[in-house]
Amino acid sequence: MKAAVRERYGPPDVVEVREVDRPDPSGDQVLVRVRAASVNRADLDGLGPRPGFTRLFLGLRAPRNHRIGIDVAGVVEAVGPAATRFQPGDEVFADLFAFGQGAFAEYVCASEKAFERIPPGMTFEDAATLPHSAVLALQGLRLRGGRTIKPGDKVLIDGASGNVGPFAVQIAKSMGAEVTGVASTEKLDFVRSLGTDAVIDYTNVDYTSTGNRYDWIVDTDSHHSILRVRRALRRQGVYVTLGGTSLPILLALLVGPLISLASDRWTGLLLWWKPFNRADVARLEQLIAAGTVKPVIDRRYPLHDVVEALRYVDDGHARGKVIITF
Ligand SMILES: NC(=O)c1ccc[n+]([C@@H]2O[C@H](COP(=O)([O-])OP(=O)(O)OC[C@H]3O[C@@H](n4cnc5c(N)ncnc54)[C@H](OP(=O)(O)O)[C@@H]3O)[C@@H](O)[C@H]2O)c1
Repeated sequence: MKAAVRERYGPPDVVEVREVDRPDPSGDQVLVRVRAASVNRADLDGLGPRPGFTRLFLGLRAPRNHRIGIDVAGVVEAVGPAATRFQPGDEVFADLFAFGQGAFAEYVCASEKAFERIPPGMTFEDAATLPHSAVLALQGLRLRGGRTIKPGDKVLIDGASGNVGPFAVQIAKSMGAEVTGVASTEKLDFVRSLGTDAVIDYTNVDYTSTGNRYDWIVDTDSHHSILRVRRALRRQGVYVTLGGTSLPILLALLVGPLISLASDRWTGLLLWWKPFNRADVARLEQLIAAGTVKPVIDRRYPLHDVVEALRYVDDGHARGKVIITF
């Protein structure tokens, strides 16, 4: 089978599409013929790696795992002897982040625990957009203890134009929030088209200095320190960051919880991520079936152009999701 692999760290060019052995499912594994995959910022973070200190876990000099790709949707081809949940022909999707990755390949093989059934009527491409980014968006709008937004809350999505942002905007709108989206100049129309009530161009305006205050901020790519973002929070306000450059992330991780204890505002890094959490996936399926959340697909690339797809996302061109087709 054909699969995208990489043997060293670096930009998307380190990835090659090669012929590799097709795996046989053992134990509780299922073998899935991939029909669509999608690119995430996390794929690029893993290639870099970014932040640099993650080499401590991924392999100091070179990545231990050569496979890439997290979001996958496809059809079960074969099942291992201990698999009980699926049979050949079932249509399934998964977030393979914690299951060895490898979504950019003609087949994936992983424990059946990784997969859920694609709901009737959902396309493989739409299913492939959801596992990583939509689940992160939902969990970024909820604290570990379950606190979330209320109708009428003012919500700001910083980084509204990429993978997670368009889902976060639509989910917050579906919950009755008044939503402001932050993005670069050329993507503001796209962010408006998602249903935002207001947009901010981060190349001209620093939202932490406008005097506007929000009940909830989700930041997909932190560029501000938590000390600055506190100025943009109302009392009892929440700031959740998902990723970004090293310093804001370290501050959000180490200083955020301490400041939160001593004040009426919560600031910090999303540490309660439950990849492909079943209840959250079910909630997203309902929102999509109701038409209140629509996966936004920007472009499609065949597997043999996976490097181009990764470059397109890495260079910041994508508006929504980029799909790998088979
Ligand atoms: N915490 C966790 O448990 C967890 C788990 C998995 C993944 N993650 C992380 O979650 C993040 C998800 O992000 P994503 O996939 O949505 O990223 P993305 O698709 O790359 O989107 C990044 C967004 O940030 C904006 N942006 C870029 N430069 C900016 C700047 N200088 N100032 C303000 N905004 C800027 C972009 O706007 P323009 O495109 O308009 O420039 C875009 O809207 C990733 O970093 C991923 O690693 C976190």
